[in-house]
Amino acid sequence: MARDEASGAAAGAGPAPGEPLLEIRDLVKHFPLTRGVLFKKQIGAVKAVDGVSFDLRKGETLGIVGESGCGKSTVAKLLVGLERPTAGQIRYRGEDITRLSGRAMKAVRRNIQMVFQDPYTSLNPRMTVGDIVGEPYEIHPEVAPKGDRRRKVQELLDVVGLNPEYINRYPHQFSGGQRQRIGIARGLALRPEIIVADEPVSALDVSVQAQVVNLLEQLQDEFDLSYVFIAHDLSVVRHISDRIAVMYLGRLAEIGTEEQIYDHPTHPYTQALLSAVPVPDPDSRASRDRILLTGDVPSPASPPSGCRFRTRCWKARDLCAEVVPPLEVPPPFRESTGPARHPSACHFAHERQVVRDEDRLPDGEDGADGEERLPGGEDGEERLPDGPEPGPVAHR
Ligand SMILES: Nc1ncnc2c1ncn2[C@@H]1O[C@H](COP(=O)(O)OP(=O)(O)O)[C@@H](O)[C@H]1O
Ligand code: SF4
Ligand SMILES: [Mg+2]
Repeated sequence: MARDEASGAAAGAGPAPGEPLLEIRDLVKHFPLTRGVLFKKQIGAVKAVDGVSFDLRKGETLGIVGESGCGKSTVAKLLVGLERPTAGQIRYRGEDITRLSGRAMKAVRRNIQMVFQDPYTSLNPRMTVGDIVGEPYEIHPEVAPKGDRRRKVQELLDVVGLNPEYINRYPHQFSGGQRQRIGIARGLALRPEIIVADEPVSALDVSVQAQVVNLLEQLQDEFDLSYVFIAHDLSVVRHISDRIAVMYLGRLAEIGTEEQIYDHPTHPYTQALLSAVPVPDPDSRASRDRILLTGDVPSPASPPSGCRFRTRCWKARDLCAEVVPPLEVPPPFRESTGPARHPSACHFAHERQVVRDEDRLPDGEDGADGEERLPGGEDGEERLPDGPEPGPVAHR
């Protein structure tokens, strides 16, 4: 099969591997909250995304992780142009694409495609697989002239591991994993440079998740793709991601390489998320502190002042309510060459997260072995005896 035809880079020479392809700066999306039917009056706004900045580098996979409702899908939709930002910039190859319209926008969108979360609802049940995968060619006929489409679609089905002869079948004739392959084939149809995958395996059985993740990794090499890979669980993105951004209530809490985030998290929220990741090895499970996040995620319509995590943070102090912690390398780590030297939006990132002995519950009393319930809002400060660099919090 003539794969090179499907795999050629979409847009000529561009950034070298490792250089920024997308530069997201202070991205904001507020959804207005209105009252009244005839005369709509704005009474507030859902601050779904509220000042998010990061780069996507050529050839990398950036994982974005956070609890449901923290704004991940909204970021995805902003990146692919399905939503318009309230403020901020999305620079693609150096150009701000948020204000583009018409043909210029269409050309850019060809290069940034999305794979959706739920293959059960994102595929039109009345369309054949051939029509679904070939649909992008209706908008971009220049990529595949009409007479050539069937062959191109069959080629794409083959690339994602589906039998090209299934081209006339309907979505209900496929399993969940196969349906996600159809969604991926459609995402590849225009030969994009970037794929934004919004929880692409969350709706799939665990046994199928790895197959789809492997397929995405294989396609990344073959098609020279850069990925934004969204998940609500840190364990899913670990192996596929070069870097991981942790999101909380419309903002980024921490961003870094796999080693920095998993072995040396400095933000209390990341530490809590990691402590909930299942550990297969019983020995390390026994030695690991579990942090139970208490309290609900506040509403994005009225987020807490200062640090948004403060209502659930055991390290919170007065400063946290008054000053928004910037996402930057904490000053005590700036001279360090160790893995703690990565951006973290916490005023006290340099102080190690500790479960104080007096806060530990005797075994069995909390109903789940090894779990510690942390007191909210108390001063749990302790300094590291040997310098400011925090050690691993969640042992694997
Ligand atoms: N079109 C919309 N109108 C109003 N609120 C929205 C809209 N889309 C998302 N939201 C709200 O924005 C917040 C973030 O949603 P979303 O980006 O879907 O989060 P996630 O993908 O992390 O679960 C949620 O509170 C959600 O209810
Ligand atoms: S210590 Fe303060 S700034 Fe850091 S995460 Fe907790 S509340 Fe936010
Ligand atoms: Mg979502």
